[in-house]
Amino acid sequence: MSDLQKRLAGEAAALRVESGMIVGLGTGSTAAWFVKALAARGLKDLRCVPTSEKTADLARELGLTLSTLDDTPKIDLTVDGADEIGPGLALIKGGGAALLREKLVWEASRSCIVIADAAKVVPVLGAFALPIEVVAFGHKTTANRIADVLLDHEIAMPARLRQADRALVRTDGGNLIYDAACGAIHDPVRLADDLKLITGVVEHGLFLDLADEAIIGLDSGVDVLLP
Ligand code: A5P
Repeated sequence: MSDLQKRLAGEAAALRVESGMIVGLGTGSTAAWFVKALAARGLKDLRCVPTSEKTADLARELGLTLSTLDDTPKIDLTVDGADEIGPGLALIKGGGAALLREKLVWEASRSCIVIADAAKVVPVLGAFALPIEVVAFGHKTTANRIADVLLDHEIAMPARLRQADRALVRTDGGNLIYDAACGAIHDPVRLADDLKLITGVVEHGLFLDLADEAIIGLDSGVDVLLP
């Protein structure tokens, strides 16, 4: 995990933004570099839709003008990080627990750029545990149903309820996160569909067919990947 690589990717992505755009702001340490670089450009008439309270706080602090998805439902460009970038720019996201708002904003965007350090690029998704956001009510029942779906995908490890500092992690929407250590996800499309069919699952961290481009930070400069 390289902070320099994250910074270079964030700075390169900030150069893609033009005055007057509506911009989706991702969440996480890489997206934070983008937000800082964007603010430093001082572009006119930007409106920014943040994907988390944390990003909103940072953007506000840096003087960016914030909007909401409901007020600006057509976003020109979203820039966000990822936990894994697989073939075809299929992604795992949600390590920062912001996957639901992120996916809502990504899906409302004309163009999406994923930014990351080089270690995030993988030949097959699944070494990073897949975040699955569930409603708190009956979450253990939902977790059992998730385990059944995972077994159907030959993933024997049950998903683990995310905790931090001995407390349950709550998303900005007040939901819980289960992390599924898949190992290797051989059919991400089918897994994504199967997880979405479980009552109680709000969203999962598989972002498929959403990224238009990846800007990968290297130790000097960046590399650009297309789907
Ligand atoms: C937030 O929920 C995530 O989707 C992040 O975009 C992802 O975890 C990448 O975070 P870093 O940029 O901090 O690695």
